[in-house]
Amino acid sequence: MYGIYYFSGTGNTKALADMLNGHLDSRVYNIEKDFDLEEELIFLYPVHGFGVPKIVLDFARSLPESSKKVHIIRNGADHIRLNYYASFKLIEILEQKGYKVLYDRLVVMPANFLVDYPDPLKAMLYHAAKKKISHAAKEIKEGMIRRFDSNTLLVSLFNKIHDMQSGPGSESYYKYFKVADYCINCKTCVNNCPMNNIDDQINFGQNCIMCLRCVYNCPVHAIYSKGMLKKGYSLKTIKYDQNYKPRGFYKHFIKYVNNIEK
Ligand SMILES: Cc1cc2nc3c(=O)[nH]c(=O)nc-3n(C[C@H](O)[C@H](O)[C@H](O)COP(=O)(O)O)c2cc1C
Repeated sequence: MYGIYYFSGTGNTKALADMLNGHLDSRVYNIEKDFDLEEELIFLYPVHGFGVPKIVLDFARSLPESSKKVHIIRNGADHIRLNYYASFKLIEILEQKGYKVLYDRLVVMPANFLVDYPDPLKAMLYHAAKKKISHAAKEIKEGMIRRFDSNTLLVSLFNKIHDMQSGPGSESYYKYFKVADYCINCKTCVNNCPMNNIDDQINFGQNCIMCLRCVYNCPVHAIYSKGMLKKGYSLKTIKYDQNYKPRGFYKHFIKYVNNIEK
């Protein structure tokens, strides 16, 4: 039995976890809740700042020592090279505990941060992700080894930057968030924050991991931040158009989408 252990800020990773669960004999666990340690572990999480969200690293740190097999599927908003090395830190923690990390793959999903992709592009990436997750499940079942060599200077530099961001740098994340005066104080954000970082008066503490769940889940879009997506999007409502052709900067996704093995 596989255990699928996921963290999802705004829903993309959860969608991938559910897809993967449809292809494997597995149980899905949200790492914020209780879990059992299954025979083989599959980690799913969003790439944050070319690295692993702190909550995922802390989850890995909390695991017992073991020689179980581990597979990783990260998702980011692009397939740029740096995202391929984004699991370096997680692998380090797991290997120090004795886990055998066999599989490490990136699947692209729509951006939930900074850039609002055109809706047909979001749908195209989501559609491709379904095929890629099915392909990943097949490779995982076959016991395939898929790893990236992460010993480059650039990678260690970016990992250092990420460490700073998710360490001391993260204490000031709360300053990015604003709460509009039309907030209805429903406490959806308070109750859903994975870090328990929002108090009843909707003040943000210093333990934010910038996952944006509060922004996306607010029923009246009262939480916002300059530069980030204000309202977010729903994977359920975007419509797939097989004739859509990405243009300009987005053209580079065509190759990625058409190659299911990538
Ligand atoms: C703070 C933050 C940092 C991000 N950094 C990256 C990044 O370095 N590379 C990337 O491709 N996507 C990045 N993203 C985009 C997310 O990884 C992507 O949209 C993902 O699908 C979100 O998953 P979720 O809905 O499960 O949270 C970032 C998103 C956030 C909120």
